[in-house]
Amino acid sequence: MTTGRTEDDSWDVTEGVGATALGVAWARARESSSKQPLFTDPHAQQFIDAASERGWSPPSRAITERIAHLGDYAAARTKWFDEFFIAAGANGVEQAVILAAGLDARAWRLPWTSTTRIYEIDQPQVLAFKVETLRNHGVKAAARYTAVAVDLRQDWPTALRDNGFDASEPTAWSAEGLLSYLPAAGQDLLFARVHELSAAGSRFAVEAFGPDFFDPEYLEDRSDVADWLANHGWRTSVTPAANLLEHYHRDVPDVMPRTEFVSGELLSC
Ligand SMILES: C[S@@+](CC[C@H](N)C(=O)[O-])C[C@H]1O[C@@H](n2cnc3c(N)ncnc32)[C@H](O)[C@@H]1O
Repeated sequence: MTTGRTEDDSWDVTEGVGATALGVAWARARESSSKQPLFTDPHAQQFIDAASERGWSPPSRAITERIAHLGDYAAARTKWFDEFFIAAGANGVEQAVILAAGLDARAWRLPWTSTTRIYEIDQPQVLAFKVETLRNHGVKAAARYTAVAVDLRQDWPTALRDNGFDASEPTAWSAEGLLSYLPAAGQDLLFARVHELSAAGSRFAVEAFGPDFFDPEYLEDRSDVADWLANHGWRTSVTPAANLLEHYHRDVPDVMPRTEFVSGELLSC
């Protein structure tokens, strides 16, 4: 776990864990303005500009150069989650839950059907910043959007249901850039809760630790995501990060997160 954390800490978007969402937005803004972007996220730069007005500083040139190799990773990851949600919608799944949504702008930029319900879970101040920034730019969600401002270590299933989530409907779930902020037991609890709330036909996309993830601290007693899902009736598919980058014709850097991208579909309950 990140040092300096407590069991009930919270944060704004410009501080601590919240600022990691800005880091992702910054990477998406760079990709979007590149010559051949894998995706276009017109809102990423809006978040960066709004945070800068609040005093947040984008990474310096020196840091930018040092983490340049992560740009392709971040781009491939975003593209993979985009395609996951588009495929779920094309297969009739009209309810989505984005766990630890941060500054993910998919609710505003993907081609959802107008009847799709999208729930985003993150810290209150992170979601408030995001919604306010988009409102200031006159941007409207492409589907029925609900921000569920709750800590994922708390009773978020109740908060989700209280906001209209229907567990009898198939759901497309995502956990992108999240698992490293949860301890091993917290990861298991997250998966148990998602499973409990998932009707047959639900789908789940997860950025997970690969078997040779570079920081063994995170691997201590941690469940293998694909195994966990398979043992609970989900049909899974696993793509190591390097394969994902190759799939999108991006160079595989020597140093990058040893993650894997796991997607699952719940066949029956
Ligand atoms: C690296 S960012 C990823 C954001 C988003 N998934 C994306 O890819 O753009 C991590 C996000 O996880 C959120 N997060 C981490 N721990 C959380 C918790 N316990 N409850 C709610 N949100 C949490 C942070 O606020 C932050 O927005």
